[in-house]
Amino acid sequence: MNGLSALIVVAVLLGTVWLGTGIAGQELLFGVVIPYAAIAVFLLGLVYRILCWARAPVPFKITTSCGQHQSLPWIKANKLESPPDAKWTVGRMALEILFFRSLFRNTKAELAPGQRLIHQSDRLLWLGALAFHWSFLIIFLRHLRFFLEPVPVFVQGLERVDELFQVAVPTLFLTDVVIVAALLYLLGRRFFNPLVRYISLASDYLALYLVLAVALSGILMRYFTRVDLLAVKQLALGLVTLRPAVPEGIGLAFYVHVFFVSVLFAYFPFSKLMHMGGVFLSPTRNMPNDNRKRRHVNPINPEVEVHTYAQWEEEFKDKLEGAGIPLDRG
Ligand code: HEM
Repeated sequence: MNGLSALIVVAVLLGTVWLGTGIAGQELLFGVVIPYAAIAVFLLGLVYRILCWARAPVPFKITTSCGQHQSLPWIKANKLESPPDAKWTVGRMALEILFFRSLFRNTKAELAPGQRLIHQSDRLLWLGALAFHWSFLIIFLRHLRFFLEPVPVFVQGLERVDELFQVAVPTLFLTDVVIVAALLYLLGRRFFNPLVRYISLASDYLALYLVLAVALSGILMRYFTRVDLLAVKQLALGLVTLRPAVPEGIGLAFYVHVFFVSVLFAYFPFSKLMHMGGVFLSPTRNMPNDNRKRRHVNPINPEVEVHTYAQWEEEFKDKLEGAGIPLDRG
């Protein structure tokens, strides 16, 4: 049911852009106004969410570690698992962000015959997630060819590597195959695994559908309907140089693509996709495990007014002496 309601949202979006550009001819709205608005919502929303997280106090050192931390010199420490300082913490974060290390250790529980509960690793989810995110990143970077003139050398290099298997004309990008396969796997998990289906919300499906819609409309344009790429570049350069212009006859598929991209960007800050920014601010990951070396002061502790024993003794000195009680200061 959740999967269906998210699909209806995507169908309504598709209908909107088809009516807007295919029938009503609102190319300026869908090619310029909506993309600009989406980028503005994306940037402001992103900054707002990050500021909210960054302002939240972290009362305790809650670094999670699963290795021996630094202690006596003759006990071997595992510095990546239990980073003693900022340098090693950056290393651990890099592995998390680039290779999803925590997800690699993800386990799943299953009931085996005889009601036996078995825990086993779930490397397929890790592989699917990694394949999806890396191909998305490469596709995103490859798109810089539309927005930059001259096209940077690294973008040309990326393209060349991605076209390694020169099958079909235009050459097939490996990332196009990988992203669709990975998205279908991630969706299939939610559809066919009863445990995952049970906890899946409409927003879980929507995020996947939107990315799939962006990828499929892009693939449609590149391999099937074809669009005027010079006109696309003219529009894209106009957008980044703030001199927007809409060239004639780019084609409906392009507007569908850009509209889904715009919706994805505008939706981003309000959705679970914000995990992209959240991972950097995750205290269990980004704090060094130096509890014994450095005192972590709780930033939300109020200033406590202390009354030391010495002060107390000074205050009641006469009475203490009168009662014959020995004083600390002699
Ligand atoms: C989140 C951002 C985006 C994603 C994930 C994405 C995804 C894709 C994919 C998977 C393709 C298929 C071919 C390829 O891999 O290059 C494609 C093609 C295309 N995309 Fe995007 N796209 C994005 C943003 C944009 C934007 C903002 C534009 C506006 C200029 C755009 C314009 C195009 C065009 C013109 C093609 C056809 C390329 C060709 O025929 O070689 N895309 N896109």
